[in-house]
Amino acid sequence: MATKAISFHSYKGGTGKTSIAANLAAIYARLGHRVCLLDYDFRAPSLSVLFKPNPKFWLNDYLNGRCEVEEALVDVGKGLGLEGAIFAGFADPSTRAIRDMMTKDRAWEMGALHRTLSAKRAIQRSLGADYLIFDTSPGIHYSSVNALASSDAIALVMKGDDFDMEGTKEMVRGIYDVLGRKAGIIMNKIPMGFVEGGGIVKGVEEELNIPVLGVIPCYCELMAIGGRSIYALDRPDHPFSKALEDLSKRIAGM
Ligand SMILES: Nc1ncnc2c1ncn2[C@@H]1O[C@H](COP(=O)(O)OP(=O)(O)OP(=O)(O)O)[C@@H](O)[C@H]1O
Ligand SMILES: [Mg+2]
Repeated sequence: MATKAISFHSYKGGTGKTSIAANLAAIYARLGHRVCLLDYDFRAPSLSVLFKPNPKFWLNDYLNGRCEVEEALVDVGKGLGLEGAIFAGFADPSTRAIRDMMTKDRAWEMGALHRTLSAKRAIQRSLGADYLIFDTSPGIHYSSVNALASSDAIALVMKGDDFDMEGTKEMVRGIYDVLGRKAGIIMNKIPMGFVEGGGIVKGVEEELNIPVLGVIPCYCELMAIGGRSIYALDRPDHPFSKALEDLSKRIAGM
Protein backbone atom coordinates (compact mmCIF):
# COMPACT_ATOMS: atom_id res chain seq x y z
CA MET A 1 0.00 0.00 0.00
CA ALA A 2 1.21 3.51 -0.79
CA THR A 3 1.92 5.63 2.27
CA LYS A 4 -1.15 7.60 3.26
CA ALA A 5 -0.15 10.99 4.68
CA ILE A 6 -2.56 12.74 7.03
CA SER A 7 -2.12 16.09 8.79
CA PHE A 8 -3.86 16.85 12.07
CA HIS A 9 -4.48 20.56 12.05
CA SER A 10 -6.66 23.29 13.58
CA TYR A 11 -7.18 27.02 13.57
CA LYS A 12 -6.98 27.45 17.34
CA GLY A 13 -4.64 25.77 19.77
CA GLY A 14 -5.44 23.05 22.27
CA THR A 15 -8.16 21.30 20.27
CA GLY A 16 -6.56 17.86 20.72
CA LYS A 17 -4.41 17.43 17.59
CA THR A 18 -1.40 15.93 19.36
CA SER A 19 -3.48 13.59 21.55
CA ILE A 20 -5.49 12.36 18.57
CA ALA A 21 -2.47 12.01 16.25
CA ALA A 22 -0.44 10.01 18.82
CA ASN A 23 -3.36 7.76 19.75
CA LEU A 24 -4.24 7.05 16.12
CA ALA A 25 -0.60 6.22 15.39
CA ALA A 26 -0.77 3.68 18.23
CA ILE A 27 -4.09 2.27 17.02
CA TYR A 28 -2.79 1.75 13.47
CA ALA A 29 0.43 0.21 14.78
CA ARG A 30 -1.51 -2.12 17.08
CA LEU A 31 -3.39 -3.34 13.99
CA GLY A 32 -0.05 -4.25 12.41
CA HIS A 33 0.59 -1.16 10.31
CA ARG A 34 3.90 0.65 9.98
CA VAL A 35 3.37 4.24 11.07
CA CYS A 36 5.57 7.31 10.88
CA LEU A 37 4.59 10.15 13.23
CA LEU A 38 6.21 13.56 12.68
CA ASP A 39 6.08 16.49 15.09
CA TYR A 40 5.63 19.48 12.78
CA ASP A 41 4.71 21.79 15.64
CA PHE A 42 8.04 23.64 15.70
CA ARG A 43 6.54 26.48 17.75
CA ALA A 44 5.44 24.26 20.64
CA PRO A 45 6.92 20.77 20.22
CA SER A 46 4.88 18.20 22.15
CA LEU A 47 5.57 14.67 21.00
CA SER A 48 8.97 14.68 22.73
CA VAL A 49 7.11 15.15 26.04
CA LEU A 50 5.07 12.03 25.37
CA PHE A 51 7.82 9.76 24.05
CA LYS A 52 10.90 11.20 25.81
CA PRO A 53 13.20 10.29 22.92
CA ASN A 54 16.91 10.79 22.72
CA PRO A 55 17.20 11.44 18.99
CA LYS A 56 20.50 11.74 17.19
CA PHE A 57 18.91 14.39 14.97
CA TRP A 58 15.77 16.47 15.22
CA LEU A 59 13.41 17.19 12.33
CA ASN A 60 14.85 20.72 12.51
CA ASP A 61 18.21 19.21 11.48
CA TYR A 62 16.56 17.45 8.55
CA LEU A 63 14.83 20.62 7.38
CA ASN A 64 18.11 22.53 7.77
CA GLY A 65 19.83 20.00 5.50
CA ARG A 66 22.02 18.47 8.23
CA CYS A 67 20.83 14.86 7.96
CA GLU A 68 18.62 12.45 6.05
CA VAL A 69 15.06 12.08 7.35
CA GLU A 70 15.67 8.44 8.32
CA GLU A 71 18.42 9.62 10.70
CA ALA A 72 15.88 11.79 12.54
CA LEU A 73 13.46 8.91 13.18
CA VAL A 74 13.28 6.95 16.43
CA ASP A 75 11.54 3.56 16.81
CA VAL A 76 9.20 4.53 19.66
CA GLY A 77 6.90 1.50 19.33
CA LYS A 78 9.45 -0.95 20.75
CA GLY A 79 8.25 -2.50 23.99
CA LEU A 80 4.68 -1.29 23.53
CA GLY A 81 3.48 -4.72 22.39
CA LEU A 82 2.47 -3.53 18.93
CA GLU A 83 2.04 -5.81 15.96
CA GLY A 84 3.31 -3.03 13.67
CA ALA A 85 5.72 -0.18 14.37
CA ILE A 86 5.83 3.54 15.12
CA PHE A 87 8.79 5.60 13.94
CA ALA A 88 8.65 9.17 15.20
CA GLY A 89 10.50 12.33 14.21
CA PHE A 90 10.68 15.11 16.79
CA ALA A 91 10.73 18.90 16.73
CA ASP A 92 13.56 20.33 18.83
CA PRO A 93 11.97 21.75 22.01
CA SER A 94 14.95 23.98 22.97
CA THR A 95 14.28 27.73 23.10
CA ARG A 96 17.12 28.34 20.65
CA ALA A 97 15.57 25.97 18.09
CA ILE A 98 12.05 27.35 18.52
CA ARG A 99 13.31 30.91 18.01
CA ASP A 100 15.36 29.80 15.02
CA MET A 101 12.31 28.20 13.38
CA MET A 102 10.23 31.35 13.98
CA THR A 103 12.62 33.56 12.05
CA LYS A 104 13.02 31.61 8.81
CA ASP A 105 12.46 33.50 5.58
CA ARG A 106 10.24 32.58 2.71
CA ALA A 107 13.03 31.03 0.63
CA TRP A 108 13.93 28.73 3.53
CA GLU A 109 10.26 27.73 3.90
CA MET A 110 10.08 26.84 0.19
CA GLY A 111 13.15 24.63 0.67
CA ALA A 112 11.44 23.09 3.72
CA LEU A 113 8.41 22.25 1.57
CA HIS A 114 10.65 20.41 -0.89
CA ARG A 115 12.36 18.57 1.94
CA THR A 116 8.98 17.61 3.47
CA LEU A 117 7.81 16.21 0.13
CA SER A 118 11.11 14.30 -0.22
CA ALA A 119 10.70 13.00 3.34
CA LYS A 120 7.35 11.52 2.39
CA ARG A 121 8.95 9.65 -0.53
CA ALA A 122 11.86 8.46 1.63
CA ILE A 123 9.49 7.26 4.37
CA GLN A 124 7.53 5.28 1.80
CA ARG A 125 10.68 3.84 0.20
CA SER A 126 12.86 2.99 3.17
CA LEU A 127 10.32 2.44 5.97
CA GLY A 128 7.50 1.02 3.87
CA ALA A 129 5.18 3.08 6.07
CA ASP A 130 1.43 2.60 5.65
CA TYR A 131 0.66 5.88 7.41
CA LEU A 132 2.54 9.16 7.72
CA ILE A 133 0.96 11.31 10.42
CA PHE A 134 1.85 15.00 10.82
CA ASP A 135 1.06 16.70 14.12
CA THR A 136 0.98 20.38 13.16
CA SER A 137 0.86 23.70 14.95
CA PRO A 138 -2.42 25.61 14.93
CA GLY A 139 -3.05 28.29 12.34
CA ILE A 140 -1.39 29.08 9.07
CA HIS A 141 2.28 29.10 9.99
CA TYR A 142 4.47 27.90 7.10
CA SER A 143 5.49 24.64 8.77
CA SER A 144 1.84 23.63 9.09
CA VAL A 145 1.04 24.61 5.51
CA ASN A 146 4.08 22.57 4.37
CA ALA A 147 2.68 19.53 6.20
CA LEU A 148 -0.80 20.09 4.75
CA ALA A 149 0.62 20.42 1.24
CA SER A 150 2.55 17.15 1.69
CA SER A 151 -0.51 15.24 2.92
CA ASP A 152 -3.15 13.26 1.09
CA ALA A 153 -5.79 14.20 3.63
CA ILE A 154 -6.36 16.79 6.34
CA ALA A 155 -8.06 16.04 9.66
CA LEU A 156 -9.33 19.34 11.03
CA VAL A 157 -9.68 19.08 14.79
CA MET A 158 -12.04 21.63 16.30
CA LYS A 159 -13.96 22.31 19.46
CA GLY A 160 -16.83 23.94 17.66
CA ASP A 161 -17.29 27.20 19.53
CA ASP A 162 -17.90 30.39 17.59
CA PHE A 163 -14.39 31.79 18.19
CA ASP A 164 -13.05 28.73 16.47
CA MET A 165 -15.59 28.80 13.64
CA GLU A 166 -14.93 32.18 12.00
CA GLY A 167 -11.17 31.72 11.80
CA THR A 168 -11.53 28.10 10.73
CA LYS A 169 -13.86 29.11 7.90
CA GLU A 170 -11.36 31.63 6.60
CA MET A 171 -8.51 29.11 6.87
CA VAL A 172 -10.48 26.43 4.99
CA ARG A 173 -11.19 28.87 2.14
CA GLY A 174 -7.71 30.35 2.06
CA ILE A 175 -5.62 27.18 2.48
CA TYR A 176 -7.52 23.88 2.29
CA ASP A 177 -9.56 24.81 -0.79
CA VAL A 178 -6.46 26.18 -2.53
CA LEU A 179 -4.48 23.00 -1.81
CA GLY A 180 -7.45 20.87 -2.88
CA ARG A 181 -6.83 18.17 -0.26
CA LYS A 182 -9.51 15.82 1.04
CA ALA A 183 -10.56 17.05 4.46
CA GLY A 184 -12.63 15.75 7.35
CA ILE A 185 -13.55 17.31 10.68
CA ILE A 186 -12.99 15.79 14.09
CA MET A 187 -15.05 17.54 16.73
CA ASN A 188 -13.27 17.08 20.04
CA LYS A 189 -13.84 18.10 23.65
CA ILE A 190 -17.57 18.49 22.98
CA PRO A 191 -19.65 18.78 26.17
CA MET A 192 -21.58 15.54 26.62
CA GLY A 193 -24.97 17.28 26.35
CA PHE A 194 -24.16 18.53 22.84
CA VAL A 195 -23.02 15.18 21.48
CA GLU A 196 -26.45 13.60 21.24
CA GLY A 197 -28.95 14.65 18.59
CA GLY A 198 -26.45 15.44 15.84
CA GLY A 199 -27.43 19.13 15.58
CA ILE A 200 -23.86 20.26 16.20
CA VAL A 201 -22.58 18.07 13.35
CA LYS A 202 -25.07 19.41 10.82
CA GLY A 203 -24.29 23.01 11.75
CA VAL A 204 -20.52 22.56 11.34
CA GLU A 205 -20.83 20.61 8.09
CA GLU A 206 -23.01 23.35 6.63
CA GLU A 207 -20.70 26.14 7.76
CA LEU A 208 -17.50 24.56 6.46
CA ASN A 209 -18.75 22.26 3.71
CA ILE A 210 -16.53 19.45 5.05
CA PRO A 211 -17.88 16.16 6.47
CA VAL A 212 -17.60 15.46 10.18
CA LEU A 213 -15.75 12.16 10.72
CA GLY A 214 -16.39 11.90 14.43
CA VAL A 215 -17.51 13.68 17.58
CA ILE A 216 -15.50 13.06 20.73
CA PRO A 217 -16.88 14.18 24.08
CA CYS A 218 -14.89 16.10 26.66
CA TYR A 219 -13.45 13.81 29.32
CA CYS A 220 -12.02 15.81 32.24
CA GLU A 221 -9.62 13.01 33.22
CA LEU A 222 -7.84 13.42 29.88
CA MET A 223 -6.78 16.96 30.73
CA ALA A 224 -4.95 15.65 33.79
CA ILE A 225 -2.98 12.97 31.92
CA GLY A 226 -2.31 15.02 28.74
CA GLY A 227 1.18 14.24 27.47
CA ARG A 228 1.75 11.43 29.94
CA SER A 229 -0.06 8.48 28.46
CA ILE A 230 -1.31 7.05 25.17
CA TYR A 231 -4.84 6.26 26.25
CA ALA A 232 -5.54 3.89 23.35
CA LEU A 233 -2.76 1.63 24.67
CA ASP A 234 -2.97 2.23 28.42
CA ARG A 235 -6.78 2.32 28.72
CA PRO A 236 -8.14 0.67 25.56
CA ASP A 237 -11.63 0.33 27.07
CA HIS A 238 -11.98 4.05 27.87
CA PRO A 239 -14.64 5.74 25.67
CA PHE A 240 -11.97 8.14 24.31
CA SER A 241 -9.97 5.14 23.04
CA LYS A 242 -13.15 3.57 21.61
CA ALA A 243 -14.07 6.83 19.83
CA LEU A 244 -10.60 6.97 18.28
CA GLU A 245 -10.84 3.36 17.13
CA ASP A 246 -14.03 4.26 15.22
CA LEU A 247 -12.33 7.35 13.87
CA SER A 248 -9.30 5.36 12.71
CA LYS A 249 -11.51 3.44 10.27
CA ARG A 250 -13.05 6.60 8.85
CA ILE A 251 -9.68 8.28 8.46
CA ALA A 252 -8.26 5.21 6.74
CA GLY A 253 -11.14 5.44 4.26
CA MET A 254 -10.60 9.13 3.46
N1 LIG B 1 -11.69 14.71 24.34
C1 LIG B 1 -10.97 15.33 25.25
N2 LIG B 1 -11.49 15.60 26.46
C2 LIG B 1 -10.76 16.25 27.41
N3 LIG B 1 -9.51 16.64 27.26
C3 LIG B 1 -8.92 16.39 26.07
C4 LIG B 1 -9.60 15.73 24.99
N4 LIG B 1 -8.75 15.63 23.94
C5 LIG B 1 -7.60 16.20 24.34
N5 LIG B 1 -7.69 16.65 25.61
C6 LIG B 1 -6.67 17.34 26.43
O1 LIG B 1 -6.55 18.68 25.98
C7 LIG B 1 -5.22 19.15 26.15
C8 LIG B 1 -4.69 19.67 24.82
O2 LIG B 1 -4.59 18.57 23.94
P1 LIG B 1 -3.49 18.51 22.82
O3 LIG B 1 -2.17 18.96 23.35
O4 LIG B 1 -3.59 17.18 22.19
O5 LIG B 1 -4.07 19.64 21.84
P2 LIG B 1 -3.34 20.31 20.59
O6 LIG B 1 -4.40 20.67 19.63
O7 LIG B 1 -2.25 19.44 20.12
O8 LIG B 1 -2.73 21.62 21.26
P3 LIG B 1 -1.69 22.65 20.56
O9 LIG B 1 -2.49 23.45 19.59
O10 LIG B 1 -1.19 23.46 21.72
O11 LIG B 1 -0.65 21.82 19.90
C9 LIG B 1 -4.43 17.98 26.70
O12 LIG B 1 -4.36 18.11 28.11
C10 LIG B 1 -5.27 16.77 26.32
O13 LIG B 1 -5.09 15.67 27.20
MG1 LIG C 1 -0.24 19.87 19.75
